[in-house]
Amino acid sequence: MIIFSIGVLWLLKTAVFVLWDCLHGIRVFIWARLKKLDLVKKYGEYVIITGATDGIGLEFAKKFAERGHSLFVIGRNPVKLENTKREIEKLLQPGKKVITFIADLNTTNLNVYKKIESELQPLKERIGILFNNAGFFVSDPDLFANLKEEDILNTVNVNVTSILMLTKIVFPFLIENKKGLILNTGSIVSIYPTPFLNVYGATKAFVKYFGEAIAYEYKDVNIEVQTLIPSMIETKMTEWSSAQRSFLFVNAKQYVDAAFATIGRTSLTTGFWTHGIEYFLSVRMFHAFCYKFISYHIVKLTKRQ
Ligand SMILES: NC(=O)c1ccc[n+]([C@@H]2O[C@H](COP(=O)([O-])OP(=O)(O)OC[C@H]3O[C@@H](n4cnc5c(N)ncnc54)[C@H](OP(=O)(O)O)[C@@H]3O)[C@@H](O)[C@H]2O)c1
Repeated sequence: MIIFSIGVLWLLKTAVFVLWDCLHGIRVFIWARLKKLDLVKKYGEYVIITGATDGIGLEFAKKFAERGHSLFVIGRNPVKLENTKREIEKLLQPGKKVITFIADLNTTNLNVYKKIESELQPLKERIGILFNNAGFFVSDPDLFANLKEEDILNTVNVNVTSILMLTKIVFPFLIENKKGLILNTGSIVSIYPTPFLNVYGATKAFVKYFGEAIAYEYKDVNIEVQTLIPSMIETKMTEWSSAQRSFLFVNAKQYVDAAFATIGRTSLTTGFWTHGIEYFLSVRMFHAFCYKFISYHIVKLTKRQ
């Protein structure tokens, strides 16, 4: 009788979670695409964006331009920044602007952030969104002891330190404006520890925890924090995988077409429906042990070197 009751309770709990996840999926992946939000009106004109010189960041930047935003793009490579600027400028609405700023985010030098802060000061009333999207992942996932020290520091500086420092700069502006959004790109590998993606996965867990904590802290003052936790996308970052062109991956444009619609709809989302199913199966159905086993073998089998 006791075992039967526990079984019924477990089934009920699972049914509630399944129903909740289905409704959430319908809201962020279907409803959000049908009924677009006016993000300029909701948050403000300027989007401060990192990691927009390539991959999903570039696609996001183009979408923000199409939707009536001005952009402040932070990147480390002057040539790529200039190309990005030219590409975005073609899509801007009248009166909108792209400003670029050269900064290597693989740094702990506070002066770099002070310079960014002083560049942003004149725009502060028009800043609506900070999109911390830049990310670093080693070109060849490996066992921890084989990683180079400089790659470990690079991963932490770009994926963690830059998010903390830029959020620290922009938050006071958003508080003064009484509206705004901090959008962070995490990763699905933050849900459980991921072998071979050891340091990277841990930095993305940081992004998720940090985002969810401040989302709660500021929920009553009209400032939103959203974390994207995508799964595998075909970009420069995933060139290490021989599965890049398989069904396991979506391309950057496909991903951003879907993920853009989720902006302002939820505090945590994978951004793409197949990634949502992956998240659902991993979190609701599998134990962390199964996740670690599967991801360990996927990385081991598909890693090129
Ligand atoms: N691809 C995936 O499967 C996947 C999955 C989950 C999450 N993500 C996350 O999505 C975000 C975007 O990644 P992506 O896939 O689009 O990768 P990507 O094509 O490699 O783009 C990474 C972007 O970050 C910039 N960046 C890297 N290091 C930097 C530094 N030191 N200073 C300034 N900018 C720097 C890059 O600049 P350069 O153009 O100068 O290189 C580039 O614009 C990352 O946060 C990543 O962790 C990706």
